[in-house]
Amino acid sequence: MSTKYDSQRGLDRLLKEIDMSMLTPSDKRVFLARLSEHFEALFSHFTHVYGYHYDCYYHLRALLNTLAKNLSERTESLKALDASRLSNPHWYAHHSMLGMACYVDLFAGDLQRLKARIPYLQSLGVTYLHLMPLYRSPEGDSDGGYAVSDYRQVDPKLGTVSDLQSLATELRNAGISLILDFVFNHTSDEHAWAMAAKGGDKNFQHYYYMFDDKSIPNQYEPHLREIFPQVRRGNFTFDSTSRKWIWTTFNNFQWDLNYTNPEVFTAITDEMLFLANLGCEGLRLDALAFIWKEMGTDCENQPKAHTIIQAFNLCLKIAAPAVVFKSEAIVHPDEVVKYIDKEECQLSYNPLLMALIWNSLATRKTRLLTASMQKSFSISPDCVWVNYVRCHDDIGWTFDDNVAWQLGINPHDHRQFLNAYYTGQFEGSFANGVAFGENPNTGDCRVCGSLASLVGLEDALADNSIERIKTAIDRIMLTHAIILSIGGIPLIYSGDEVGLLNDYEYRTQPDKQHDDRWVHRIPLTDQDIAASQKQGTVQQQISARLQHLIQLRKTYPVFGAGNTTIIGTENQHVFVFLRQSSASDSVSVKSQNDNNTDETPTQLLALFNFTEHTQQVDAKYLAQLKAPHLFDLVSEEPLSHETTITLAPYQIRWIVPKTPTFYS
Ligand code: GLC
Ligand code: GLC
Repeated sequence: MSTKYDSQRGLDRLLKEIDMSMLTPSDKRVFLARLSEHFEALFSHFTHVYGYHYDCYYHLRALLNTLAKNLSERTESLKALDASRLSNPHWYAHHSMLGMACYVDLFAGDLQRLKARIPYLQSLGVTYLHLMPLYRSPEGDSDGGYAVSDYRQVDPKLGTVSDLQSLATELRNAGISLILDFVFNHTSDEHAWAMAAKGGDKNFQHYYYMFDDKSIPNQYEPHLREIFPQVRRGNFTFDSTSRKWIWTTFNNFQWDLNYTNPEVFTAITDEMLFLANLGCEGLRLDALAFIWKEMGTDCENQPKAHTIIQAFNLCLKIAAPAVVFKSEAIVHPDEVVKYIDKEECQLSYNPLLMALIWNSLATRKTRLLTASMQKSFSISPDCVWVNYVRCHDDIGWTFDDNVAWQLGINPHDHRQFLNAYYTGQFEGSFANGVAFGENPNTGDCRVCGSLASLVGLEDALADNSIERIKTAIDRIMLTHAIILSIGGIPLIYSGDEVGLLNDYEYRTQPDKQHDDRWVHRIPLTDQDIAASQKQGTVQQQISARLQHLIQLRKTYPVFGAGNTTIIGTENQHVFVFLRQSSASDSVSVKSQNDNNTDETPTQLLALFNFTEHTQQVDAKYLAQLKAPHLFDLVSEEPLSHETTITLAPYQIRWIVPKTPTFYS
């Protein structure tokens, strides 16, 4: 193959030219071994995107120098972590995994005080902590930190780089993997690269998409989506300093990086590896769908975006292989899955499951959820979903229109119904949500609100209705039980574990009031935590029931690696799936001394009632569980194969076969 030949020749030549002087003999051996494994693929991706540049080879050499330098800067303990992850690459599929996402300031104040909250995280069972972007960013509106001015500096209000580094170590010692954001589609307009570009530096102007006038932007524009139409129409911003039009997919102050420029690829790789070397174990690829622009398309999910991400992944494999990628593609389900591959992103948010859980709560029907999961849940066994119910962003209705049509649902009308339902414009709705990103042309919008407010707790508490409070708590449990059991990493949004309600304070703050996502970005106070530990409070009920479910997940390997089969039953109000753990997981479990190894079930039938009414599901589905005796882990009731499965309002059942003889 000519690529192989070219890449081998290229590598031989490059190795003579790159600077490996800073590598210790053992690092050099590791570096060369990893290059011999991955260089061919890296070469092929890099030349696929940049081969037409006359100086492509020069850029490739710069890239390898960057990789060598970053490998040399990796600490010994991170190198040890690299080795251990390489020997156990599927660590993230383990049933002990439990994720949490939080803002440093809202969760703890700053990085130092976050350390003091590690015991709290441990008490919840958290093993994966995503800290929302904490880098230096513009004063005032910084899109919640997603406008990065310097990847190598922590926002001074939160602490320092060395605080972050020591936090990463403390977290790891506590069994918690740190996940950081890799915001690589754009930088803030205050990043040194953007400042140089504003000042007229031609080299840095090529780091962004900058146009002298609107003639080219006008050719792109008709095909592009508008992400924040409430703050700016169109996708381009006029910069009065450079007097150029800049591509800004998100806010005016977030300048899209130009990945047609190989220097940008290498420069961002250097920033990425800097973050990896701080000690994070996962990087969340923010807005990854937007990184490649192609005239005449919507400039999302372009094939070269995938090539570039795969190339970044290879750079990690060479310089920091302990780190995995998490895809944040909030796009059509058929596009979401294309980012998920061990060569691309090992982890991915599951926006389809998230949106359809909300859909089922509103409609009390599970047909769209079931049909969509049947089509889209299954992914490579090397990868896992990160399943969530709420996050720092809005809820968008990202389901596949064709699946909806097949069920006789008009997708456009249905989205309008869902928006109305969750934003208080639908008679009888339980939700307190806020509309976000309304597009005056299309009438589209998305939904904001905290989990507790969206499931009806805010209203129920205001009315002091004991019954509706209970129902709202039941809904919180139902949604969390799904993400805890369906397969993948469950990711809890900080504050949801104690049922924080919407916070309307942002409406009085000039730098926040135009962005309604702040309604669900809420401080978690010591009082909230204390309330969650005080017998009889609503917070305590939520926290205790959630703890119970988490403990079950942590006890039984069937919640970890394995397969999920989504089951459509005759009852359209109940969501049902079957989990089967993989044989390899059962073996690894024995070696980890889990409880119940003798009786560890390898199957689980999970059922969720999405209504306020008792529901029944035919007993025939229990036949999937191959054992004479059955047991519901949640209610701790024995069940028999013959009886119809009954579910009380919003009841969760996790049914397992109960007998050691299953193993014989
Ligand atoms: C992602 C983030 C979102 C941010 C956007 C631009 O979607 O989750 O909060 O506004 O990217 O960085
Ligand atoms: C984007 C998504 C959009 C999301 C937004 C943040 O990356 O495509 O749906 O809601 O960022 O608000």
